[in-house]
Amino acid sequence: MSTLARKAILSMAGNRLMTGLMTRHGLKLGASRFVAGVTLQDAVETARKLNEQGLAVTLDLLGEGVTTREDARTMAEGCAAILEAIHRERLDANLSVKPTQLGLAIGAEAAMENLTQLQDIAKRTGNFIRIDMEASDTVDATLDVVKRLYAREPNVGTVIQAYLYRSPKDLQELAELGMNVRLVKGAYLEPPSVAYPKKADTDEAFKRLIAQHLSAGCYTAVATHDEAIIAFTKRFVEEHAIPRHQFEFQMLYGIRTELQRQLAGEGYRTRVYVPFGTYWYPYFVRRLAERPANVWFVLANLMKP
Ligand code: FDA
Repeated sequence: MSTLARKAILSMAGNRLMTGLMTRHGLKLGASRFVAGVTLQDAVETARKLNEQGLAVTLDLLGEGVTTREDARTMAEGCAAILEAIHRERLDANLSVKPTQLGLAIGAEAAMENLTQLQDIAKRTGNFIRIDMEASDTVDATLDVVKRLYAREPNVGTVIQAYLYRSPKDLQELAELGMNVRLVKGAYLEPPSVAYPKKADTDEAFKRLIAQHLSAGCYTAVATHDEAIIAFTKRFVEEHAIPRHQFEFQMLYGIRTELQRQLAGEGYRTRVYVPFGTYWYPYFVRRLAERPANVWFVLANLMKP
């Protein structure tokens, strides 16, 4: 996809009017291909089906850019219910959260209050919380919160985005702590002053980060649908005798489902990111921006009577 088209689509993700409109209109436009449903029950059923296919899951209650303490609290309660449901239903699943969903835009302390409560539930139920990475202007605050949480209890990990120039240094600091990190290409609209504008450069940076974190002996979640990066990872772990319990592959719900099953069938730990909830619009727009064919898929859905 051209950079211009990607920018045009991604700029729709931050549009408040569109977000409100779309949120009220439910899982239309084909968003259900990428979102497991609206309720926790929908998500639990999807997770169970994926588990039955040998796939682990990370559950995500859709939400981001929260600006009031009340909304952040409501989101935290929703996330707490996910952790309890995973425990009760004995799912092979953990939780993914977005820092701005839990109050980071209000302040680090608001986010910490919600996250420490979730961390305590994760500790009691023997689970793990992945703190997603959002736009580049939130990276410093996110890493700060993640490090504070990790010092309390090492049951949290975060995400490093290959497109950011700063990422090798950030990853090195997390490796010094021994942190479990998910590596991704990066999904936000970033200027060339902070991120590689060319996909080929991001892809090469991604490979270097995978090698860096695996070589540091840290648990690495390689989150991509890119077969060349997956092949690189398989070769790297083979050549460097990295044990299979030190890494996993991760993919998004509804994307390359055959490949997900294939990797699990080959004995690689594979986890599917399963988002659910009513606030699906920005997540959906990021998925559209990743692949032009998705836009046609949406238009085709709009044409349907
Ligand atoms: P790339 O975009 O090159 O795609 C490779 C191939 O995968 C495509 O050719 C196509 O076949 C398929 N594909 C990819 N995206 C598709 C789509 N939307 N629809 C259909 N097919 C598609 N980002 C971030 O900034 N912060 C985060 O916390 C996370 N978290 C996260 C968790 C998990 C589990 C995954 C898999 C991804 C993320 N991401 C993320 C998103 C990530 O940054 C990136 O935008 C997407 O994974 C797409 O990039 P790929 O690595 O798949 O490669």
